[in-house]
Amino acid sequence: MIIFGMESSCDDTAAAVLDVNHTESGNEYRLLSNIVSSQTAIHAEYGGVVPEIASRAHAEQVSAVAAEAMKKAGITHSDIDAVAVTFAPGLIGSLLVGVSYAKALASALDVPLIPVNHIEAHASAAYLEYPELPESFLALIVSGGHTSFYDVKDHVFTEIGGSRDDAAGEAFDKVGRVMGLPYPGGAAMDRLAAAGFERDDWKAIKFPSPAMNDGTLEFSFSGLKTAVINHIHKTVQRSEAATGADLPLNVKEDIAAAFTAITVKGICAKLEEAVISNNYTHIVLAGGVAANSHLRGAAEELCLRLGVKLCAPSLALCGDNGAMTAAAGAALYRQGVIADSRMNAFASDEGAMGYLAELRSRLDGSRHKNGL
Ligand code: KG4
Ligand code: ZN
Repeated sequence: MIIFGMESSCDDTAAAVLDVNHTESGNEYRLLSNIVSSQTAIHAEYGGVVPEIASRAHAEQVSAVAAEAMKKAGITHSDIDAVAVTFAPGLIGSLLVGVSYAKALASALDVPLIPVNHIEAHASAAYLEYPELPESFLALIVSGGHTSFYDVKDHVFTEIGGSRDDAAGEAFDKVGRVMGLPYPGGAAMDRLAAAGFERDDWKAIKFPSPAMNDGTLEFSFSGLKTAVINHIHKTVQRSEAATGADLPLNVKEDIAAAFTAITVKGICAKLEEAVISNNYTHIVLAGGVAANSHLRGAAEELCLRLGVKLCAPSLALCGDNGAMTAAAGAALYRQGVIADSRMNAFASDEGAMGYLAELRSRLDGSRHKNGL
């Protein structure tokens, strides 16, 4: 079965072609293409994603990206058996471009349209690379919009914790901006921190942990973000630099290292609590911030110590892409979760969960309606 996956929830226009074969022991996947057209350069001069510009750029790119995905996969329209599209959460104008394109494509080809939640898609990237992943696992999604834990059972996601305010990626990007890093700052911060960790100076800088110390699986990144930004401003005042961007490289490296260390420590502390809370055997760590080398390393060490398997998608599948949308689509299709003609885009997670729950509630007792 060929699933065409489309993603346009933020600033990446992405499409992928996934060949899925259902066997007795689970799904086998062949990723035939995975094309991502990033708008990073367009938004960089504004220091963040400008929603109106993002929607327009998606509209300009979507047809070419879809055509490229089909060409690279060596398929034509008639080979597509289902279309999966991110319908929430995200920027509403951006989502609407992908949803409208996917609706038109599915309708023209008379194939099922599968509504995919972006957060669930991030976790589903692991299906493609970890065939041993059982039906029940713990997912930790760390991205520009989320830092959330999900208990996953047969591709049904239940949030069991997360950030009360900002997401980890947002904190990386805001701190990066104050230090003059190009948007989005996460990857550059990763490299700066690596250099800082080579020395011990960063250890003298103390920031508050993002992990809530109240027995919940919750985080707060806004306090940490503000503390780091205040620290940068104070350091600027005490130096000859005019802005955070002008601070000496070693000073920036130490701040990046201290910020990264407390972030990783806080996330791993809650990850450990979450794993122990429900005796999980497999952990999916996904989303753009899951590309962070320090977080991956610490999560790997933690999982080794706890005797559980860490399933973190490869770097290319951590950021937004259409392959993860198609992978989530395959799971939903198998359960019979197919969009109806009223399908719409939703900016919020609640809207997405509500629509998916409604579609699921209409299914008759047989979970695996489709033969995939
Ligand atoms: O999942 P994603 O591509 O988009 C959302 O769904 O939000 O995540 C984007 C976020 C940005 O905040 C970016 O700075 C961050 O992922 N990111 C990183 C790294 N690579 C990307 N954060 C920390 N370290 C990285 N290496
Ligand atoms: Zn994302």
